[in-house]
Amino acid sequence: MGARQLGWRLVYEALAARVRRPEWSFMNYGYVPPDGGSGPEPGLVALDERDERDRLSIQLYRRAVSGAAVRGADVLEVGSGRGGGASYVARCLEPRSTTGLDFSRAAVAFCQQNRLVAGLSFVHGDALAMPFADESFDVVLNIESSHCYGSMDAFLSEVHRVLRPGGTFCWVDLREEAAVAVLRRQFAESALVVADEQEITDGVLRALRLDDARKVALIEGLFPRVLHRPLHRFAATARSSTFDRFEKGSLRYLSARATKSAAGGV
Ligand SMILES: C[S@@+](CC[C@H](N)C(=O)[O-])C[C@H]1O[C@@H](n2cnc3c(N)ncnc32)[C@H](O)[C@@H]1O
Repeated sequence: MGARQLGWRLVYEALAARVRRPEWSFMNYGYVPPDGGSGPEPGLVALDERDERDRLSIQLYRRAVSGAAVRGADVLEVGSGRGGGASYVARCLEPRSTTGLDFSRAAVAFCQQNRLVAGLSFVHGDALAMPFADESFDVVLNIESSHCYGSMDAFLSEVHRVLRPGGTFCWVDLREEAAVAVLRRQFAESALVVADEQEITDGVLRALRLDDARKVALIEGLFPRVLHRPLHRFAATARSSTFDRFEKGSLRYLSARATKSAAGGV
């Protein structure tokens, strides 16, 4: 495992072990569609009252799965974190089954205790060597996780392997400006066929602005002062360099939907 991967693993293990609150369900930057959802993009969906507090994060999931046939599907989320997204998919999008995979053992144990939904399970494992047989899933979701991986090429190859022929890969994540061309090449050279690719930085920035006060209160209420600065960067609060870089364009947030050809082959 490379230093970068090890670093992320330590961060996510520590967060899952230290913050046991089940109500903290998501770890993504969120998304607000253009025109507050009145345009053609999906986003401002009707939510159960219990999901309202997670609206911005759920909107990112809805943005990612738009165009994928989730109803009746076997869905895998790679990098399922605190399980809020996989739980939402299992409860509200009518898949046949939902599996969350994460390399943080503490996060998987937390989800197994706190996200109890019919048809939903959580498994420990690495995105680069997934513990699943070939052609096990119809839809693979990957939400703000792949920037932690040692190899995007190896990940895309694993996604292709575990998808059934005709299956869909739904991906959203951030990249440095200089890495966007590399990412496009990685998708183009993979065995998957890209059906749609878009930049969604503006929608993520809208969500970050709306959620700023809540995140600042969480960071400053839950963690010792010495951790505030790195956590502001991690959470992309408005005072952080991460937020600033999104605004200036040196950090970008992208979405892609890709399919495995119906002819299959692993
Ligand atoms: C920013 S969180 C996103 C979690 C969730 N998708 C969400 O939106 O709330 C990234 C997650 O990816 C997981 N992760 C990072 N590297 C991984 C790897 N190589 N294999 C599996 N999971 C990984 C982390 O443990 C973490 O839970």
